Amino acid sequence: MRLAALTLMTASDPQAGAGTLARWRAQRERAAHCRQCPIGAHATQVVFGEGPLPARLMLVGEQPGDREDLQGRPFVGPAGRLLMRALADLGWPREALYLTNAVKHFKYALRGKRRMHKTPAQREADICLQYLEAEIELVAPEVIVALGATAARQLLGRTVPVLRSRGRTFVRESDGRAVLVTLHPSALLRGEPALREAAYDAWLADLRRAGAAVRR
Ligand code: URA
Repeated sequence: MRLAALTLMTASDPQAGAGTLARWRAQRERAAHCRQCPIGAHATQVVFGEGPLPARLMLVGEQPGDREDLQGRPFVGPAGRLLMRALADLGWPREALYLTNAVKHFKYALRGKRRMHKTPAQREADICLQYLEAEIELVAPEVIVALGATAARQLLGRTVPVLRSRGRTFVRESDGRAVLVTLHPSALLRGEPALREAAYDAWLADLRRAGAAVRR
């Protein structure tokens, strides 16, 4: 359970740590009951971020998928498996990173019994931004990785052409934090099978840049 890790990470500074953890829990609770947009009412549960507080590196996706919605954890479905492969190849332990999404509930359309991913509307993502910004403040990452267009747009406050901007680091005007933009793992899963390994290697190279920026 992630909260154990969070508690451990706060042990060195019990006062500040306990306060940070309490604020994080309060934000997760607010997000769980959020009905400021319609997505939450249809989802199984909130999928808030997970990882240590603080964390030097934060990875932000779009929104939870079907598996994440059922398990209540980010990146546990097919896209998450690809991300976990990348983290293993990079030598980045999952538990050292803070993983989250721009939108905290699963938006879907029913096709028969299947729940098909639906891209969140801008208004919905904007409403959810309060939770993402709260996470950023509490996690205090040195570098944030935007996985895909939705994350990049929400983190930077403007549309970012991901294919042209991938591997580049941008600075957020609001807090000066570095945001490295790259593809969402789902984009790699949808890619041409023959080119998949090359696309994966290019993606790893993007992610490695974020790691290098942290170590500086
Ligand atoms: N895609 C995302 O953007 N986030 C998840 O947690 C899972 C899939």
